[in-house]
Amino acid sequence: MFSSFVEPLGRCIYGGLYEPGHPSADENGFRKDVLQLIRPLNLTMNRFPGGNYTSTFRWEDSIGPKKDRPRRAEVAWQCIETNEFGLNEFADWSQINGSDVMMTVNLATRGVLEAMDCVEYCNLEKGTYWSDLRRSHGYKKPHGYKYWCLSNEIDGPWQVGQNTGSGYGLLAREASKAMKLIDPEIKTVLAGSSNPFMPTYPEFDAQALDQAWDYVDYLSLHHYISNQKNDSPNYLAKSISTNQFFREVGGLFSYIKAKKRSTHDMYISFDEFNTWHTVSGNERMEKPRWGIATPLLEDTYTMEDAAALGTMLITILKNADLVKIACLSELVNCISHIRTRTGGGCWVLPPYYTFLLYSRYGRGLVLRPQIDSPKYDSTDYSDVPYLEAVPVINEDGTVTIFAVNRSLQEALPLEVCFRGFENALEVQQCIVLDHADAKATNTEDDPDNVKPHEGSAGFEDGNLHVRLSPLSFTVIRCRQRV
Ligand code: AHR
Repeated sequence: MFSSFVEPLGRCIYGGLYEPGHPSADENGFRKDVLQLIRPLNLTMNRFPGGNYTSTFRWEDSIGPKKDRPRRAEVAWQCIETNEFGLNEFADWSQINGSDVMMTVNLATRGVLEAMDCVEYCNLEKGTYWSDLRRSHGYKKPHGYKYWCLSNEIDGPWQVGQNTGSGYGLLAREASKAMKLIDPEIKTVLAGSSNPFMPTYPEFDAQALDQAWDYVDYLSLHHYISNQKNDSPNYLAKSISTNQFFREVGGLFSYIKAKKRSTHDMYISFDEFNTWHTVSGNERMEKPRWGIATPLLEDTYTMEDAAALGTMLITILKNADLVKIACLSELVNCISHIRTRTGGGCWVLPPYYTFLLYSRYGRGLVLRPQIDSPKYDSTDYSDVPYLEAVPVINEDGTVTIFAVNRSLQEALPLEVCFRGFENALEVQQCIVLDHADAKATNTEDDPDNVKPHEGSAGFEDGNLHVRLSPLSFTVIRCRQRV
């Protein structure tokens, strides 16, 4: 639920988290200044290497002595992939960062055997061709990766190796079966619809699930929301579609389970989500092709995006019964809230703090709130509540409330009635992310323009009272009095 995604795309890796020769690079070429921004996010896992990138990925290119690794024309992003940073470099980087790896195999243009080989290389201890090869590369201990994505967005016409739901479902079933014969401990993720507006949704998902149900563990869903039309009230309402996507797929799970008389359960792996404004295809075509680390998808994220991301994160938590994996896409530079200058500094954009606070205080048991809020109509949505909120009981008994005020102009008074708590609550901390200018952002020269500050909240007659400023993301932490 507190994971991210790293794809060799634009400057996510090269010039992002990896830059040999940079003043802050360690002996591996990992930028320590970037690691310092990533560590506080306390990421559980990072999905790697894709993404669209996976569809022509030959994982064997990215292992062994760097001088022998082939340079490839990487067609998804029309760049040259040097393979200098590969599978084992990502394992090393993840270990230093303290996060696990969620690996993706290519079933779009490769097959079951290559997927099995990759599991053998990563997870088997020794005594076989691939495991011994890994050892010869200096990795005595297996990487032991538990989560494996079976390709990516294979429903999309932009994908090399696009497939139908049943064609892909059959292939994924056989791959998952074979991969689990190598390592029965792994969990596999079936690729579902690339977004809820795909013309083939939900039929693609139903067909794929029908083929693979008892052999896989999660269904991957993706959703990016954007404000390309600069219609902010509508943009801020788009998490309603995310919520609907989750609930519809939950219904699909119940249907397929009943149809198959199965005892097996499936969950959602929401392994790509974020706000995203640039149109990737257009941008890619405007840039010269076959560059190395060409800057791509480097959106300028603002306060408005920080609030919009807040609505998505709250929606994920509210669906925690179904969504068991969630990866913010992506980690550095591309569609990311961490920005670097190649050869220079690094800084964070406003939504970085939304995710940081969610990751820091969102762990525990999610409660289902009963919300009564004034509402508005936007271009595509009616009855949009101004308030989006969810409470979580953290492991130490603290109750954390995440709240977004979707109104661009008006503050929203929030009153919270807690029921069923034996001990009275008191406010421990109130943290606010807001700014007078919805389009405010941070830059290398002005890195602290938008950042969280202390807010005020208090109890009156047993209820919590907070004033949510316009277009804000607020975190209120209440501890139980003993
Ligand atoms: O994150 C960028 C791209 O968005 C990914 O490569 C792909 O899976 C999605 O379409």
